[in-house]
Amino acid sequence: MKRTLILIALVSLASCQISKSQDCTCAQLLTLGDCGRNSKCTWNLTKLVCELPSNTGTGTGTGTGTGTVTKNYGKSLYCEGLAQTECLDKYECAWLDNKCTFFTSCTPFEKATKDECQAISKRCITDGTICVEIDICDSYSTSISCVQSKTSYCVWDEPTKKCSNVTECSQLPTDLKTDAECRKQLKNECTAKDGGGCVESGTNCEDQKQEVGCVTNKARTVQCFWGDGKCFEKKCEFALTSNKTHADCQKFSDKCTAKKDGGCVDIKTCQDGQILEGCKIDNAGKDCFWVATENKCKDKTCVNAPNTMKTNSDCKQYLPKCITNGQ
Ligand SMILES: *[C@@H]1O[C@H](CO)[C@@H](O)[C@H](O)[C@H]1NC(C)=O
Ligand SMILES: *[C@@H]1O[C@H](CO)[C@@H](O)[C@H](O)[C@H]1NC(C)=O
Ligand SMILES: *[C@@H]1O[C@H](CO)[C@@H](O)[C@H](O)[C@H]1NC(C)=O
Repeated sequence: MKRTLILIALVSLASCQISKSQDCTCAQLLTLGDCGRNSKCTWNLTKLVCELPSNTGTGTGTGTGTGTVTKNYGKSLYCEGLAQTECLDKYECAWLDNKCTFFTSCTPFEKATKDECQAISKRCITDGTICVEIDICDSYSTSISCVQSKTSYCVWDEPTKKCSNVTECSQLPTDLKTDAECRKQLKNECTAKDGGGCVESGTNCEDQKQEVGCVTNKARTVQCFWGDGKCFEKKCEFALTSNKTHADCQKFSDKCTAKKDGGCVDIKTCQDGQILEGCKIDNAGKDCFWVATENKCKDKTCVNAPNTMKTNSDCKQYLPKCITNGQ
């Protein structure tokens, strides 16, 4: 009942904004919900302010009436009908009573866990009692709410009862489970560890202690490879001979292509290609061409086209910019 009253209060507050929207400048509308109800304004997701759209060019002069209606209509329908996962990905929307609706606020909802609040909107976490909007770490006063800000994770210090930004890989939460998830945090220098959570990346592949963290070196310039309980730099020559095609070798590492008798080699020039499957691209990404009659790999250029191509249409099929040399 209390919740319903709060919701009604929120909605009527919003409609009052609509009726007064003529008197309001965009900057006076402080929430996304209010901003969305004024057709002239848009909510800037970067600055988190309500403002006039930057490109006020087309159709504002003559067609204001219909333009306004269309826009309002579009906004009110924006969240409607979205499935839950899609809904939760939209900053403007919330998932309530199994429906996607326009987001208004986190605080009407009494939920004691982060997951329950996040199931309503990704903008909400719990303070232990109600959902609250995600804020900066320093603003959280309970260890339960001290989880994340908009841009970073937070860490709770029990002795001082203070919440602050995470500064070390080891302070990141255990629900980060992969190298990719850990890398996004701090200075791209954290990798994953067993059991979840992150650890500072080793400098070289050889320094990564666990398989889950054996993905790249610290600078992310070298791909790594786990074998014999150790982490190595991923070299094309380590690929098993069951790798037979260019695609197999590319899946192993984007620096590799197929070689004779199986396995992979570094991609160098077209001339280095030993077999048809190892004759696809050179290390600059340019196309190569396999000349079966000569058993050779060549740059795919007009001059290298085989003499069996006699007509312009043959040549065009080989490479659109080529024409026949008349021989
Ligand atoms: C939001 O503000 C930023 C910074 O001023 C600006 O670059 C961006 O274009 C704005 N976004 C929209 C959708 O107007
Ligand atoms: C914590 O991170 C926020 C951005 O999420 C930043 O604005 C703030 O300055 C940081 N605080 C400290 C103490 O570094
Ligand atoms: C290619 O070699 C790698 C490394 O030994 C192996 O993990 C992978 O399964 C091989 N791929 C194929 C298609 O055989």
